[in-house]
Amino acid sequence: MMRTHYCGELSAALIDRTVTLCGWANRPRDHGGVIFIDLVDREGLAQVVCHPDRESLFKVAESVRNQFVLRVTGKVRCRIEGTINPKLRTGEVEVVVEELEILNPSAPLPFQLDDDNLNENTRLEHRVLDLRREPMQRNLRLRHRAAMAVRKFLDQHGFVDIETPVLYKSTPEGAREFLVPSRLHPGQFYALPQSPQLFKQLLMVAGFDRYYQIVKCFRDEDLRADRQPEFTQIDIETSFLAEEDIRRLMEELVRQVFREAAGIELPSPFPVLTYDEVMRDYGVDKPDLRVPLKLTELTDVVRDVEFKVFSGPANAEGGRVCALRVPGGGAFSRSELDGYGEFAKTLGAKGLAWIKVNDRSKVPEGLQSPIVKNVHAKALESILARTNAANGDVVFFGAGEATSVDAYMGAMRDKIGHDRGLAEEGWRPLWVIDFPMFEFDPESKQWKARHHPFTSPKDGHEKYLESNPGQAYAKAYDMVLNGWEIGGGSVRIHRPEIQQRVFSALKISKEEQRAKFGFLLDALQYGAPPHGGIAFGFDRMVTLMAGAGAIRDVIAFPKTQRGQDLLTGAPTEVQEKQLRELGIRLREKPKD
Ligand code: AMO
Ligand code: AMP
Repeated sequence: MMRTHYCGELSAALIDRTVTLCGWANRPRDHGGVIFIDLVDREGLAQVVCHPDRESLFKVAESVRNQFVLRVTGKVRCRIEGTINPKLRTGEVEVVVEELEILNPSAPLPFQLDDDNLNENTRLEHRVLDLRREPMQRNLRLRHRAAMAVRKFLDQHGFVDIETPVLYKSTPEGAREFLVPSRLHPGQFYALPQSPQLFKQLLMVAGFDRYYQIVKCFRDEDLRADRQPEFTQIDIETSFLAEEDIRRLMEELVRQVFREAAGIELPSPFPVLTYDEVMRDYGVDKPDLRVPLKLTELTDVVRDVEFKVFSGPANAEGGRVCALRVPGGGAFSRSELDGYGEFAKTLGAKGLAWIKVNDRSKVPEGLQSPIVKNVHAKALESILARTNAANGDVVFFGAGEATSVDAYMGAMRDKIGHDRGLAEEGWRPLWVIDFPMFEFDPESKQWKARHHPFTSPKDGHEKYLESNPGQAYAKAYDMVLNGWEIGGGSVRIHRPEIQQRVFSALKISKEEQRAKFGFLLDALQYGAPPHGGIAFGFDRMVTLMAGAGAIRDVIAFPKTQRGQDLLTGAPTEVQEKQLRELGIRLREKPKD
């Protein structure tokens, strides 16, 4: 046998037993003629001790360097008084070496594995060593447990795991696609799927009733801490379930996965808020409910004030004025207030007006602010009443075009809440439902699907498809946890004529509908059942469970924010010959 135990399995129960361990040498150190080595494997660390009385053995021990691979046989004994480490699972014991074999040496490392301040690019370049570190081992095993819990729950609830193609057809769904040139059909391309959306719908038409897949999705978009160009979804579709039934089942899934994989108990049931409610109160569609602050609507209160910064947007179509009250914020220094103003400006604000409430009973003398002189007393009273302001508070104001105000006031709420320690500990999930079907894209001056174009309008909202798309709401829902959108889904359109009307609202011509989505429209004709589903961002879910900062920390081989794999060097140039076979001619040699 190569080994009898994992290093991390040693305990006082094994005292006086002879064990054989395999692992990597950590911090070999010479303590006055006695050599100590921390031997590490995936289960943990065992201290092994080598005494000089066994000369040949000691010689080998002396040559051991960091990360050499060793095989050690010896007797387990209790550590001597004072060297017991209660923080370590194996901290009571050590192994006195009787045999020591170097299975493989290691070159000197580019960094120390226990260095907590490593630059991320260094880690990604040397990902193999990075993955050997304990936090990464922990994260990836958590990911495994989460995947197992997902499969177990879905299997128990009748879901069937069905694989869908990775080489797919170019069918824009929102993000930019990755294209794959076809050698057999020069000039033609596959696309990598942004999600298996249409395949899972086709599987419902095919009668599978409940489908799932833990599946890679590909999107060529700008990357962030919570976005990768290839990422993993728990992709789910069901037939004959109403929206509430789907949400209830999915909530149960998520609660069970967090419990089984990470021992995290999520509150039950998840609160359900509409899109309009979250935008009004939080300014974002994925609010972090751990932050107890809320925005206060003021548009109707400031229409007739002298201060044009407020009255202008309040009277304009699509304008919004709102406030954010921060309890105790009266103590913010001038430079702190200016700092928040600058932060808001980086997010598109023109400024960030504020009022410090020194004495609530004296309006306006009790208010300290650059703007009170231009806001009449009645409006000030309404502002204080609506925001529930008390002495010692500060009230911030956002005024302008609603989407812009929402964006920076929502971000301010989040930032101030976390900066000031106002955020609660723990887990605050919610559902956001009733999204608008469409959003207007000012660039192309066209309506775009908010979720995707296969999402069903709410009952009775079909009538807006032609007359007023902005008024149509959808049977769409997102699951949000601590400010992260961890999943999104919808009830789908199962009638071909409604699907065509939605395509038309998106200005997709009849010919284009046939060319791009003919296979869907055809399938919907043959008795498509009512169906709906969701996809969870698996990487995001595991990141939250792990308490990690970025999804890169729960992906074995992720890409950088610039889409590069620093370990293998992808993307790379390819040989002329390969390009020729694919019928591709580069106009010029790519730089950089
Ligand atoms: P959606 O586009 O909302 O829906 O994606 C579902 C979930 O996937 C995660 N996600 C990402 N995670 C990491 N990197 C990315 N680039 C990335 N993009 C999305 C998010 C998101 O909530 N087909 C629909 C689902 C459906 O309607 O059933 C879809 O893909 O957590
Ligand atoms: P001004 O009259 O431009 O000096 O602005 C007076 C105050 O209003 C300053 O504190 C600005 O930061 C703030 N302010 C300016 N524009 C806006 C805006 N669009 N929303 C909120 N506050 C603003």
